[in-house]
Amino acid sequence: MDIQKTYQAGQDLLEGRVVLVTGAGQGIGRTAAITYASHGATVILHGRRVEKLERVYDEIEALGKASAIILPFDFEKAVDADIAALAEAIASQMGRLDGILHNAAWTYGAMPLAYHKLEHWQTIMQVNLMVPAALTQACLPLLKASPDASVIMTGDTHGQAPAAYWGAFAVAKSGIEVLVRIQSEEWEMFPNLRINALIPGAVNTPQRTKTHPGSNNRALCPPEDLMRTYLYLMGPDSRGLSGKTLLCQA
Ligand SMILES: NC(=O)c1ccc[n+]([C@@H]2O[C@H](COP(=O)([O-])OP(=O)(O)OC[C@H]3O[C@@H](n4cnc5c(N)ncnc54)[C@H](OP(=O)(O)O)[C@@H]3O)[C@@H](O)[C@H]2O)c1
Repeated sequence: MDIQKTYQAGQDLLEGRVVLVTGAGQGIGRTAAITYASHGATVILHGRRVEKLERVYDEIEALGKASAIILPFDFEKAVDADIAALAEAIASQMGRLDGILHNAAWTYGAMPLAYHKLEHWQTIMQVNLMVPAALTQACLPLLKASPDASVIMTGDTHGQAPAAYWGAFAVAKSGIEVLVRIQSEEWEMFPNLRINALIPGAVNTPQRTKTHPGSNNRALCPPEDLMRTYLYLMGPDSRGLSGKTLLCQA
């Protein structure tokens, strides 16, 4: 997509918007949260570990431009009531929600299907597919009230091109693209709602070190190189684009 090479986000692209970024404590999520804040968004920083989120919070405060709040929450054992409480916390603390970047992910690393126990399947599907789907639904009243709400789900190349040892993680990530298409059709009568999948490609992050331990991950691009696409999809310039999967081009 040419737009990924040429797009220049306005400095105030996300001014006045509230955006939830899941998995914001490190890697791509951390960079996206800081980037969104630097373009004017108030960012809800989600992750498991508060100390990491506090560091991102401090970086955003140091920008002197926008604010952030911290929302720690472990997806692994979450049930409907927890997810509803999370959405209620966003409603009561922020009063609005204009976008979600579903970025949090978990993997055990490479593992043959023969080693997958039911608990492995459950954890992977829960964190990577089921909670993002349920959280979107729980936030729907807030998203519907926004004049222009964008939901971004994060896919993976192995969801499109499955390969040995990618196991439940690849299955969950392939489900993301199906979910996006179904959700997009169900939102057709709401022009202010859109949802797309974004596949980052190979990026130097802590997760990459885990999934590719033998590779020279430092030679890969940093998350900063992808932010043009993350901004485009979150902001108003992508209005009308829904149900698509974008392969991120650095
Ligand atoms: N890096 C790549 O090359 C690459 C390639 C393709 C796709 N992706 C996708 O891009 C996204 C970001 O990747 P990344 O490499 O930046 O990942 P990462 O460095 O591993 O960060 C993942 C984030 O997910 C959060 N998380 C993990 N388990 C969680 C749980 N049970 N509950 C709530 N949060 C949880 C982590 O929170 P804590 O830090 O608080 O534990 C962390 O902030 C993921 O969806 C990934 O699959 C990445």
